[in-house]
Amino acid sequence: MRAAVVTSFGGPEAVEIGEVALPEPGARQVRIRVTAAAVNPVDAGVRAGVFGGAGKRLGLGWDVAGVVDAVGVASGWNVGDEVVALAYGTAKDLGTHADQVVVDADAVAVAPRSVDAAHAASLPLNALTAAQALDRLALEPGQSLLVTGAAGAVGGYAVQLASRLGVRVIGLAREDDEEFVRSLGAERFVSDGVAPGSVDAVLDAAILGADALEWVRDGGVFLGVIPGAQPESVRGVRTGAVEVAADGARLAELVALVDEGVLTTRVAGTYALDEAVKAHARLAEGGLRGRLVLVP
Ligand SMILES: NC(=O)c1ccc[n+]([C@@H]2O[C@H](COP(=O)([O-])OP(=O)(O)OC[C@H]3O[C@@H](n4cnc5c(N)ncnc54)[C@H](OP(=O)(O)O)[C@@H]3O)[C@@H](O)[C@H]2O)c1
Repeated sequence: MRAAVVTSFGGPEAVEIGEVALPEPGARQVRIRVTAAAVNPVDAGVRAGVFGGAGKRLGLGWDVAGVVDAVGVASGWNVGDEVVALAYGTAKDLGTHADQVVVDADAVAVAPRSVDAAHAASLPLNALTAAQALDRLALEPGQSLLVTGAAGAVGGYAVQLASRLGVRVIGLAREDDEEFVRSLGAERFVSDGVAPGSVDAVLDAAILGADALEWVRDGGVFLGVIPGAQPESVRGVRTGAVEVAADGARLAELVALVDEGVLTTRVAGTYALDEAVKAHARLAEGGLRGRLVLVP
């Protein structure tokens, strides 16, 4: 089968499409025939060597929508099930940018019925990150949350999920994104920040760092998206960073929200797996609204 891998770090051209052995699922694992697999910023990071792993073959791709085509012992899934999943890991030797991928059975959920595979594939990584970030923030209805990068994947899902919980969401994004961010449920839109100390919490999906920390009230919470890169705590503000974890049960809840129309997925374009280099180059250009998705 084909897979997109990196064997030496670099720009988009470092992505190789190679023939690799078909992986077999072990106990409590399934193999998925990939229908669609989103390209995320983390894939660009792996490709560029941000997470290390020099000298190894690194598989690309975390998000997948597809059909179960082989099951290990006690997987709980059946061949033919239409699913979505998160293939966690910056140092895995094969990822979802491939014809087939093996994932842990408990990272899998039944696919949404209301969207196509490309949209479904844009869900797992970023919706799980947003949901797990909100768990960490543990805000009460009526408290305020400023989400930076609110028009992006993590930020957009966070705006939708937090608004639904009754949190008062301020979305920070580029000026052109105001209408979109408001459509996600943000009570307020800003493009250049808020008064110092004026919000209960910040989820910093645009990685503004210390600037965004200033907006949090004394004793509030700042949550970044790059573990270890969050600013030092000041004024009693707790600082931390979310690190996504695979969670099929939680993913199933997010799938249900897609089917209920609560969560909206966004796809900017699709590429064949053989065109993965082009997809990486387009991601590197920036300015995308929605995910690029590989369709083998
Ligand atoms: N820790 C984890 O487990 C985890 C999980 C998922 C993602 N992440 C990380 O989270 C980050 C966001 O991911 P994503 O997929 O949501 O990226 P994305 O879709 O590209 O969204 C980022 C958004 O932030 C905007 N932005 C950047 N700088 C801004 C600024 N100064 N003012 C206003 N808007 C600004 C971008 O706009 P422009 O396009 O115009 O710049 C874009 O709309 C990435 O670094 C990703 O690697 C971490």
